[in-house]
Amino acid sequence: MSSPGIDSAKVRELHDRELKKFVGTHPRSLALLERARAHMPNGVPMAWMVIDQEIPVFVSHGEGADFTDVDGHRYLDVNVSDMVMFCGYGNPEVAEAVALRAWKGTQFLLPGVEAVEVAEELASRYPVPFWQFTLSASQANTEAIRIARAATGREVGHFDEGLINLEDGRLVPVQRGLVKATAGKVRIAQFNDIEGLRRALEPRDVAIVLTEPALTNNVHLLLPQPGWHEALRAMTRETGTVLAIDETHTCVVGPGGATRRFRLDPDIVTIGKSIAGGVPLGAYGMIEPLAREIDVRREQGVTATGGTLFGNPLSMAAARAALTKVLTPAAYDRTGALGARLADGIETAIRKVGLPWTAQRFGPRSGHWHGPEPKTGEQALALRDQLLTRTQRLFLANRGVWEALPGAGPTVAVPAREADVDRYLDGYASFLGAVTA
Ligand SMILES: Cc1ncc(COP(=O)(O)O)c(C=O)c1O
Repeated sequence: MSSPGIDSAKVRELHDRELKKFVGTHPRSLALLERARAHMPNGVPMAWMVIDQEIPVFVSHGEGADFTDVDGHRYLDVNVSDMVMFCGYGNPEVAEAVALRAWKGTQFLLPGVEAVEVAEELASRYPVPFWQFTLSASQANTEAIRIARAATGREVGHFDEGLINLEDGRLVPVQRGLVKATAGKVRIAQFNDIEGLRRALEPRDVAIVLTEPALTNNVHLLLPQPGWHEALRAMTRETGTVLAIDETHTCVVGPGGATRRFRLDPDIVTIGKSIAGGVPLGAYGMIEPLAREIDVRREQGVTATGGTLFGNPLSMAAARAALTKVLTPAAYDRTGALGARLADGIETAIRKVGLPWTAQRFGPRSGHWHGPEPKTGEQALALRDQLLTRTQRLFLANRGVWEALPGAGPTVAVPAREADVDRYLDGYASFLGAVTA
């Protein structure tokens, strides 16, 4: 939909102008894209790299909070690779740990000391003592769901499965190729909708509720309403349902993520992306009764988990460096303070042009809603304006700021400084000026 206070014809014109400029200044990226199409569908290693943007830039290297493309354009990256690069590009602590580990062997199918230290560190941050490791947050979620199914003996709760949307009251797979039958294994309760949650859990056949502590991604940012988390915990307990909190995005708000900030008491925490400083790693922590499901001495057999490269020492070395040397309490304090500066600046810029928009605030990340703060996922989705978002992305990219996906930001990365926040705010204010002129 188009946003109140915005003339969409004007935005379309601005979009086309900015796209033309972008195309004209990225000849090397365009040539690589053309060449790559011969051997990669869409010209990229993964289709999603082009789903949300007109033209992908091909990247040469990153440094701190910035990266540089093959045409020599340097961008301040406020998307931080959808949170993966929160520690920054080429972080020296992570790079050194990875290089050392690479020289000494990166997988033995046996544990090393790094794994012990990473598990200890995560257990000190989140209220779940037992941890396992995968290569991505998606895989961590898959295994968390399997463990919950095994522990409860219930079937509702799937991951193919987490990829289900609610459309006009029907559950449908988000993309083609997913098994339609899994829609029958999932129930979607809207975030902040206590009555909806009650209806979903009442049949007592749900193995697991898996939710972010504050919703990100498609809805940009949706904070919990007072009472929501308390009701979620009480109802999952009452109905014998496992409660898993996915901290993959929200872990950037502090040690212990939003789980600690909101004083949550989940049965499982899943996490990934930034925890290994940009090296592939997913993890899930659980309470003791669930950990028993993967105790190999169990007579009934163990829950299906694992992959040959899961928990490898390279990922673990990177995570140990990221968690103990980069993602320190001081780093969260600094990025949180800069996040507040970012949100203040966004609020001021919105007020200046008189738009009925609202700034988001959540630790190091901010952004805006194209309207008043939404309370439910439905309201948040209704506020999305894809043309405006795409135009903002192009406009900022043409001015040296990369904001690839609205689901993650803008976010202040660990190496970012005040001047970087101000650089974003300058671009943002110019964009608002351009769409309201
Ligand atoms: C909350 C959340 N959980 C899990 C994932 C999956 O992460 P990955 O793509 O690294 O598997 C994402 C990805 O955006 C996410 O936002």
